[in-house]
Amino acid sequence: MVRSLLLSLLGVLALCSLSTASVEAIEECPERILGNERRRACPRKCQHDKECGSKRQCLCDGQCGLSCVAPGRTCPWPLPPGKNFDVALLSPSPSFSALLEVRCKPGYTMPNRLDATIRRCQGDRQWSGDEPVCTASTDEGLAAEPTLLPEVPCSLPDDELLSVQGSTVVGSTIHYICASGSVLVGHSDNICHENQTWQYPHPICHRVSCPPPKEVDRGHLVAVQRTEYEVGDTIYYLCKKSFLLDGPNQVTCLPNGTWSAEPACRARCPIPAQRSRVIVGGVKHWPYDLTDGLVAHGENVTFFCKHPDKLCSFTATEVCVDGQLTPPSCYLDPTWLQFKLFPHRLVSEIDACDPADLQ
Ligand SMILES: *[C@@H]1O[C@H](CO)[C@@H](O)[C@H](O)[C@H]1NC(C)=O
Ligand SMILES: *[C@@H]1O[C@H](CO)[C@@H](O)[C@H](O)[C@H]1NC(C)=O
Repeated sequence: MVRSLLLSLLGVLALCSLSTASVEAIEECPERILGNERRRACPRKCQHDKECGSKRQCLCDGQCGLSCVAPGRTCPWPLPPGKNFDVALLSPSPSFSALLEVRCKPGYTMPNRLDATIRRCQGDRQWSGDEPVCTASTDEGLAAEPTLLPEVPCSLPDDELLSVQGSTVVGSTIHYICASGSVLVGHSDNICHENQTWQYPHPICHRVSCPPPKEVDRGHLVAVQRTEYEVGDTIYYLCKKSFLLDGPNQVTCLPNGTWSAEPACRARCPIPAQRSRVIVGGVKHWPYDLTDGLVAHGENVTFFCKHPDKLCSFTATEVCVDGQLTPPSCYLDPTWLQFKLFPHRLVSEIDACDPADLQ
């Protein structure tokens, strides 16, 4: 009976490994429903190799069903010597889908009363099934049988964005992790109860996306037009000539679905003074000497104002904000006559007031 069971198990496993070679055999790979096989986590589900990237293939991974696995990776081998059992590799190498026979020494059996079992090298590089335990096959062992039945684990979530860490056997705790670009909604830890139910429903991984970025006046976005963007996508901003970019020239879609910045294109300001020098960038200029008579967004412009009683000047600074630069209230633009006839008496050209005069 043991032998026929082993043979049928081998048959299923053989069919399963055949699925790599023939399309019809894919039908033979079980859906991902975890039963007796104890696993840490299943690799990503798939239907075709092309879903698995360049290093992996879509192969049948036992109870995980068709999964993206790296067939060249191996399971631990040789295994440390077991107590009361012998281990033999049935395949040429301990790589994916290789089979291993565990046989109890004479007079010993496993908890299910069989004297041998087959373990398969899984996509997670672990041998399938529990660590073998062979105990002396006494009547006592038979009497204790009900409590020694293999534990059935809780089922794993079927969400390719969701992976789990930990064991799904009764009484264990698992931790869920969402793939990057998605956020976990629900409990991030769970415990498998006696009756193979989880304490909480599996959480869901919501894919995060950013809405199309805001159009920018007086500039353009350098981006592929899409209705939504993935986390990490980057978009570049350019301003039309003579406008200054206020903010970074690139923005990125953040993990919370927002853009890292909202740059704007700001206009330059005409200087509201004609016949008086002003200080721009630390240098005293006639406004008409500045390029186009304009200053950049954010630039400070310092004006000269006349002391109300004395013949001396003091300064007042204003900032160009997106095309708007208002002169300080103390500033008076000289008349054309003053400018032409007495250029040296213009307020911007006379001596600065003594600080004491400005108290
Ligand atoms: C999104 O994340 C960024 C950076 O972590 C943060 O500055 C911003 O406030 C967040 N926005 C929202 C709507 O949570
Ligand atoms: C303008 O003046 C403010 C305050 O003194 C200063 O913080 C800022 O850096 C100046 N801006 C420029 C462009 O020089």
